[in-house]
Formats: sequence, structure tokens, C-alpha cells
Amino acid sequence: MRILAIDTSCDESCAAIVDTEQWKLLADVVHSHVDSMTLYGGVVPEIASREHLKGLPLAVHQALETAKLDIKEIDWFVVTHRPGLMGALLVGVSFVKALAFSMNKPFSMLNHIEGHLFSPLLGTLEGGEVPAFPWVSLVVSGGHTELFLVRSPKEVRWLGGTLDDAAGEAFDKIGKLLELPYPAGPVIDRWVREEATDEMRSRFKFPVAAMKPFHFSYSGLKTSVLNQTQKLKTVTEEDKLAIAASSQEAIIAPLVREVREAQTKFGVDQIVVAGGVACNSRFRALLPEAYFPAPRHCTDNAAMIALLGALYHREGILQPSEFTETAHPGMDFEVYSG
Ligand code: KG4
Ligand code: ZN
Repeated sequence: MRILAIDTSCDESCAAIVDTEQWKLLADVVHSHVDSMTLYGGVVPEIASREHLKGLPLAVHQALETAKLDIKEIDWFVVTHRPGLMGALLVGVSFVKALAFSMNKPFSMLNHIEGHLFSPLLGTLEGGEVPAFPWVSLVVSGGHTELFLVRSPKEVRWLGGTLDDAAGEAFDKIGKLLELPYPAGPVIDRWVREEATDEMRSRFKFPVAAMKPFHFSYSGLKTSVLNQTQKLKTVTEEDKLAIAASSQEAIIAPLVREVREAQTKFGVDQIVVAGGVACNSRFRALLPEAYFPAPRHCTDNAAMIALLGALYHREGILQPSEFTETAHPGMDFEVYSG
């Protein structure tokens, strides 16, 4: 079976194709709108929707061309239907519905977080080594900071998540305060890695929240960065670098702490980290025992959605059904409660 997947949850129009018999990724196209967002210092949902109208057909076309396939050779269409920007998701879902209907092929709607959660298995499509279950998993992106216990694709337990801002959002908002370009996460990562000293990483004492086990909170950090920056008479480039370095430590510390707590509590060896923030080099250095997917698999892509379809098909969790609009219940996981 050949699965064509689409993800338009944020500001990237993504299309990918997976062949389930060969267990191979045939195409993986990510068309970013970042250039249209630079002027605004963040994602403007309405602009993202309009960019998807232009970018999505191109991404699908390019994916088919790369895979050397005709659209008629696609057996199952899958699309991200939540969570994300409503208008942006609507473009992807409407596009796939129309495409599947016109091709007389089934389509299904999948969950973006589940895509990130199982993205470490993308390595299998390239013949690489991947971590064995069970996992304690962190999904850390611009929109989510969630901790899971994953015994298999069928047994997923949500342990906790952010009570307010996501970790990537904290990077981006602090970056905005420091007048860094959007998205600030990778900019802060590189700047601190290349130029900051060890002293700068601890120069500012920013709060590291510990609200309740397996949960996270970043709104206090953002306020503290704002307050401490305003207290400085003039803010030099060196101050900015030290703020970036110190706040990066404060963002990463609770992630490392909670994932290790969960590892001990549930007696699980394997830690896995996915989502855009998993690209962070300092995070990778502070959690050397964890499995981090290749950076291109951490940020938004449709390959992880295609893989999710393939995985659910293989595990008997979700099957393509003729013409019907099926949605995996997604994220209605068993919740850990104490
Ligand atoms: O997974 P993703 O591409 O999209 C969402 O689903 O949100 O994650 C994007 C987020 C942004 O907040 C971006 O600043 C952050 O991931 N990010 C990073 C790095 N690369 C991307 N944060 C810190 N360090 C990085 N190297
Ligand atoms: Zn994402």
C-alpha cells in the first residue's frame, strides 16, 4: 500500500509518501512559510492558511514527482486534523477530502502529536536503528510539551504536560524579547553554542517551575526574563547572549528532570525525545542517554504522519475504509493519575 500524507498544522505545507510493503519513505517534502512570517516575528494564522493554499498543491506535486508515482497509484490518503491552527488544518483536510473523493480512495485523519510521538520510528523507513519499547517520551514543540509512557503503539499513557506555554513557545517568546528572528529556538541554540561561556549559562537566575509531577510551566520564566531585562539600564549584546544562555538552561532543566523522574518511577530504560525542541544541541548534551531522532524528523513533517498511518495499519489500530472519513480517536490515551 502507498500512503500519501499531508500535514498543514502550522506554517509548513508538508507532503510525504510511504510504501508499506517496502517499508520505505518514497518522498518527504516540507515547504516552509517562514519567509512570510519574518516580518511579523511569529506565525500569523491567516497568512499560514493562505500560504497553504499555494504551497500544499506544490508540495504534493513534488512528493509524487520524487516518488515517481502518479496520483492514481496512491492507495490511502492521511491528513493531520488536529491539533494546530484551525484555518491551516482546514486547508489540509479539505484538500485531502477533495483529492480522495476525486480519486475514489479512502482517507483518514490523524493526530499531529501522535505523529511526533512515533517519529523516532521514521528511522526504520531508512533501515536505521531505532529504540525498542517501552519508552518514556517527551514531545516538545512550539505548541506542545507532553510526557508519555509508551509500551507499544497500542499502549500509550499520557503522564503530564505543560500547564501554560510550550517549551518551543518559551524559546520563541524569549527570543522575541531579545529581538531575535522567528523562530528563535534554533537561533538561540546556535548563538549560545558558538559564543556563550559557562558563566553566562548561570548568570541570570530564572525560575525553573516544579508545579506538580510530570507537568511543566513556562509562563513564570517568560515574565522573569522580561522583568530582569527591564531592570538592566542598558542591554548590551553580551547581556542578551547571557539571557539567552540562562533561559535556555531554565527551559531544558525541568524537561530533563521530569523525564528522568518518569524513567525511575516506571522502571523504563529508554528515553525518547521528539518535536522541534528535540533539535536543541544543549538539550541533546544534557540528556545523553536519550534517543533523539534526526533533526529533520523532529520539526514538522508529513513523513511522521505517513508512518503513523502505516504503523496503525500494521498494528490493526486503524484501517483505510472505503470513502469514509475515519478519524483515529487520537490523544484519548489512558491518563496517568497518581
Ligand atoms: O515540531 P515543530 O516544528 O512545530 C510544532 O509542532 O510546534 O516545532 C517548532 C518549535 C519552535 O518553537 C522552534 O523554535 C523550536 O521548535 N525549535 C528549537 C530548535 N529547533 C526548533 N528550539 C530550540 N532549539 C532548537 N535547535
Ligand atoms: Zn509539530
